[in-house]
Amino acid sequence: MREDIIEKAYAKINISLDVTARRDDGYHDMAMVMQTVSLCDDVRLGFTDGSRIFARTNLPFIPSDERNLAVRAAKKFFEAAGEPERGLCIRIDKRIPGGAGMAGGSTDAAAVLRGLNRAFGNQFGVERLEELGAEVGSDVAFCVRGGTMLARGRGELLTPLPPLPDCVFVICKPQFSISTPELFRKLDQVSLRRHPDTVGIVSALERANLGDICRRMYNVFEDVNDRRMRTVTAIKNVLIDHGALGAVMTGTGSAVFGLYDDADAARKTFDALRREWRSTAMAKIMPRIEV
Ligand code: C5P
Repeated sequence: MREDIIEKAYAKINISLDVTARRDDGYHDMAMVMQTVSLCDDVRLGFTDGSRIFARTNLPFIPSDERNLAVRAAKKFFEAAGEPERGLCIRIDKRIPGGAGMAGGSTDAAAVLRGLNRAFGNQFGVERLEELGAEVGSDVAFCVRGGTMLARGRGELLTPLPPLPDCVFVICKPQFSISTPELFRKLDQVSLRRHPDTVGIVSALERANLGDICRRMYNVFEDVNDRRMRTVTAIKNVLIDHGALGAVMTGTGSAVFGLYDDADAARKTFDALRREWRSTAMAKIMPRIEV
């Protein structure tokens, strides 16, 4: 088992995000329609002769120790498998922007769980892997399989949904990042004026009606009292003005995406946004991973 294990770690976006309750354990109950997209990090696992589990990335500010969810996921895996911890180097080529609401850290952690599970003879089924993921972070469970899913609870109660009809995403992340706990705190200070029609989105997915899905895309975090949401709105307007069927912030931001059924319009939007916002990408839908 000395050769490297290679996994793609795909980003997620939120077609919709609702917060339905504040819980006693400090978390919030959510209802989110999540979608995996082709923007991804590359994760490579290599066993070493040492005993340390550490991460190496192409970005200097990303921690190599347990502050990195990928390292925590590896430790969690060894503990659950009853294996003594092994020396492991987790090499991550990051392309997914951080602090964007795209599950960049969570998807790396999920890739580590999938990769180690393969290396150790698939000893865990997908449900157990998702449970382990949820113990590492709320979005990790979704990222184990990805695709199109309804996520409830903390984000770990997953129901697979029919895939989103074929479309192209333009995803734009402003220079600033938004901290997830900070935005949840701000959300607790406002009473929400609007909620997404999650049931309507699920029904539109079942009918494969892209227009009906896009009309219903909404994220309650856009309603918080935060100056940065002005930039989010400005980017949404550019996306819509360039022909997006719908545009919304993903997760706790700061990335915003537009959804297009016309690849040329998406390309033109990408070119326009990229002039101002370097962290702009085009992506397509990714299907669920068979684990
Ligand atoms: O689970 P995770 O560590 O990713 O969550 C980070 C923080 O985000 C939590 O400590 C909590 O403040 C907030 N959170 C929440 N409700 C959720 C998910 C996250 O309040 N469903």
